[in-house]
Amino acid sequence: MQRGTRTATYETSPNIALVKYWGVRDPARALPYNSSLSVTLERLRTRTRVEFVPGLDRDEFRLNGRPAAPAATAAVAGMLDRVRDAARVTDRARVVSRNNFQTASGLASSASGFAALAGAASAAAGLRLSPQRLSQLARFGSGSACRSIFGGFVEWRAGRRADGRDCYARPLYPPRHWPDLVDLVALVAAAPEKSVRSAVAMQASVETSPEYARRLAEVPGRLAGIHRAIARRDSAALFPLIMEECDSFRLVCETTRPSLDYLTATSREILTAVRDLNTDTGRPVAAYTHDAGAHVHVFTLGRHVRAVRARLRSIRGIERTLLLHAGTGGRRI
Ligand code: DP6
Repeated sequence: MQRGTRTATYETSPNIALVKYWGVRDPARALPYNSSLSVTLERLRTRTRVEFVPGLDRDEFRLNGRPAAPAATAAVAGMLDRVRDAARVTDRARVVSRNNFQTASGLASSASGFAALAGAASAAAGLRLSPQRLSQLARFGSGSACRSIFGGFVEWRAGRRADGRDCYARPLYPPRHWPDLVDLVALVAAAPEKSVRSAVAMQASVETSPEYARRLAEVPGRLAGIHRAIARRDSAALFPLIMEECDSFRLVCETTRPSLDYLTATSREILTAVRDLNTDTGRPVAAYTHDAGAHVHVFTLGRHVRAVRARLRSIRGIERTLLLHAGTGGRRI
């Protein structure tokens, strides 16, 4: 079916996982081993326009005003192929994407990037996907992208079925559910570029980390606890669990062969500063977490931001901090 030029634009934000996705049980269907849970972040936005153009001989991809690298263009073409198959479209596409934040900075631009691409491409091709179906499409670009379809607090259910029908993201609570909760993102200077895609690194963990099986057994209980703490807006319950989960993820990375180390000395100092702050205060007033990158997200409540900032101020190598709340998810422009 060909019907001339078709265009759509879709915008969304990255998310930070409080329960990490790390390991795929079925690569062909992009099914994870464990469910994960994240917060979609405000202000950071990726906007992507997809235009199917009759007669174009190959897919084109511009990112932040420049032609993208071949590997990125190939990944985009992979998502477009999926959409073309489903919509029975054959035209190649022009894709233009912009982030209002640093790309590949460890701020999960692949999550917002593939969520925006899935949203724009499916709409441009005339597929009318529900947000749940859209999340099922987005995960084929980047697993964590499925959560960026929704705003606020989001769960990606791993599901049990072999066909993946019960594997999708769903919103748990809207962005305004807990206005007092903030994410102080410490952007670390000289954060190394990821040398291996997370999708590849996590499979190395599945295959070689002696800690992986234990982590997998622990995650459902931790996820339930984190969900409950968010439901009750209970930071005293939530913050230790966020750090426990981050430590479990990091231990699996460190015990992977070859070892995966995403942190810099500065990142490690931030983790220590948060632990010390909680010890000195006598209760959990903040929690750190990080993804497969060196930047550290420090969750705290509005009234503790000054105390957290004061602790971070003495650490060398923090380029700047961003104070973010939970934000809205994807929308067609
Ligand atoms: C540590 O979904 O970003 O951020 O396919 O390589 O883009 P790629 O993988 P991706 O992996 C996310 C890993 C994580 C945890 C998480 O976001 O759940």
